[in-house]
Amino acid sequence: MKTPYLEVVSEDALAKRIAELGEAIATDYADLNPVLVGVLKGCVPFIADLIRAIDEPHEVDFLLLTRFGTKGRVSVAMDTAISLEGRHVLLVEDIVDTGLTLSTLLRNLAVRQPASLKTVALLDKVPRRIVEVPLEYRGFEIGDEFLLGYGLDWNGRYRNLPGVWAVMDMERLQDLDESFPEAVFASTVDGSSEIAR
Ligand code: IMP
Repeated sequence: MKTPYLEVVSEDALAKRIAELGEAIATDYADLNPVLVGVLKGCVPFIADLIRAIDEPHEVDFLLLTRFGTKGRVSVAMDTAISLEGRHVLLVEDIVDTGLTLSTLLRNLAVRQPASLKTVALLDKVPRRIVEVPLEYRGFEIGDEFLLGYGLDWNGRYRNLPGVWAVMDMERLQDLDESFPEAVFASTVDGSSEIAR
């Protein structure tokens, strides 16, 4: 039978890569006091770990998008509290898939005349790209599976999983319901790698 889910990025791999990203960002933005703008809600675990890996002064803000239609159309449902004009802005995304959301967002933010505008995305689904978008910092390149965990959700669920998991069989995953997150957390405690069966 097909494996319903598979861990693709472990907690340890996330911690190691995010430390590297934080170091690179700290070096590149030294003395610039950048604003890191997290795109809610998927960015939450990532930005929480990333800012603690940036050993230079910076500010943090958030925005929340509402999606409508199928072509990546979005509007800003909750905007940043900090004015971005003249600031060095680093957008923090959980995942870039088709690139449609990010390209819309970059256009929206560019209008506010930041001093610079760059993006850090934890996950880059390269094979799914429809629109070319600049991605100055990226955690991991991944394939085209649907992913869950570490901020990524399915119908608002599974954001709390400590690693990133690929869904190989959505129907079976739905049948498993609560036993999926339970198995993930159990494997984190006892170190077993047998759960993706
Ligand atoms: P894009 O506009 O196609 O690049 O999609 C970006 C948004 O789609 C991300 O910010 C996520 O909210 C969502 N998304 C894309 N791929 C996944 C996935 O594999 N799991 C969960 N959410 C995803």
